[in-house]
Amino acid sequence: MARKQAPVSKKSLPADESLAVAGDGLRRKPIAGATELSIIVPTFNECENIPVLVDRLRKALPDVAWEMIIVDDDSPDGTAEVARALGASDPRIRCLRRVGRRGLSGACLEGMLASNARYAAVMDADLQHDERLLLPMLAKLRADEADLVIGTRYAEGGAADTFSTKRKWISLLATRLANKVLGLKLSDPLSGFFMLRRNVVETFARKLSTQGFKILLDIVSTAGKSLRVAELPYQFRSRHRGASKLDTRIALDYAGLVLAKATSDLLSLRFIFFCLVGIVGIGVHFVALSIGVAVIGLSFQWAQTLAIVVAIANNFALNNAITYRDQRLTGMNYLTGLMLFYLVSSIGALSNMSVGNWLFGHEQTWWVAGLGGAAMSVVWNYVVSSMMVWRSR
Ligand code: GDD
Ligand code: MN
Repeated sequence: MARKQAPVSKKSLPADESLAVAGDGLRRKPIAGATELSIIVPTFNECENIPVLVDRLRKALPDVAWEMIIVDDDSPDGTAEVARALGASDPRIRCLRRVGRRGLSGACLEGMLASNARYAAVMDADLQHDERLLLPMLAKLRADEADLVIGTRYAEGGAADTFSTKRKWISLLATRLANKVLGLKLSDPLSGFFMLRRNVVETFARKLSTQGFKILLDIVSTAGKSLRVAELPYQFRSRHRGASKLDTRIALDYAGLVLAKATSDLLSLRFIFFCLVGIVGIGVHFVALSIGVAVIGLSFQWAQTLAIVVAIANNFALNNAITYRDQRLTGMNYLTGLMLFYLVSSIGALSNMSVGNWLFGHEQTWWVAGLGGAAMSVVWNYVVSSMMVWRSR
């Protein structure tokens, strides 16, 4: 959807306002009472870990004006209530509760955008990240030696010993892939532990993906070469309580993000999922068609109609659960969404036929015409349904 946006220049970073005013000594000093550092902690079912983390932050950051923004995706274990209880006795602790949405990257982004501090850090709630690294990270930013400081497990002095062999290999492979495809030279581009000048995120916010786990990789590849990056090693610990949320879907998200960034956002994550769902839909169509003909004994026309109805409903359900998982439709909205999707898809089918016929008239090659028609309807269905059915970007 074409939305009016202020143009964002890819390569130019705004200077740190507070450092830019030459000769103005006053602006360089932190303003009394202002928060200098927001620590963004995304959570999903971390009620037992939050109190321990708060305790550790208090000890790790004496003399720093910090705050903690817990971004909770409506955890069923009551993490938000625990966070609010902590905030009741310590105003530095805030909770941003998101309802109807899931996603680590989106949570981190919203947390950083809710901050008004000069610097923002992102760290996990499960105590795997070493809070003692926060002070050295802050020192680097204060000295203006970097715009972004990454806590790395894979540089000298760092470690991820608690990883299983399988997870170690996956992590290594994903790191290599990121560096190669995106032309980066970072030892740990997938780290979930980093600190930056908040206005960096402000500048690129609209371009960042809210899906998946890889917010850091997204920031680095979107900001480009103008971003000064530093790395500090730490030892990745084992999870305190609860379970990891990294699953196959997150891994798929990751592959999609790398592809999207490697093609300058031409192939977006959503579009890739939309196409994959379409491919699954073709399979469903044929299964339904053969059941219609062979099992129920319908005529081809009726079996074909049934197959189309089933395949579209299948694509809608899958897109709702996967492609647009963060804006999932439920209840009545599900039904009206499905009706709209039927409408959009029928127009898509018509455009498929007309483009196909036109191409066949010119080309005389059936598969070129067929592919062209299909591509046309996929693009149409995608653009229109993301505007009308799942209304967002
Ligand atoms: N709000 C929100 N929404 N938070 C989430 C979500 C979500 O959908 N999914 C996970 N989190 C929170 C967790 O509660 C935890 O605080 C943090 O994000 C990290 O999640 P884990 O489930 O503990 O991830 P991990 O330990 O397997 O992965 C870590 O290592 C990866 C690289 O190996 C994280 O640091 C990742 O960021 C990192 O990429
Ligand atoms: Mn973890």
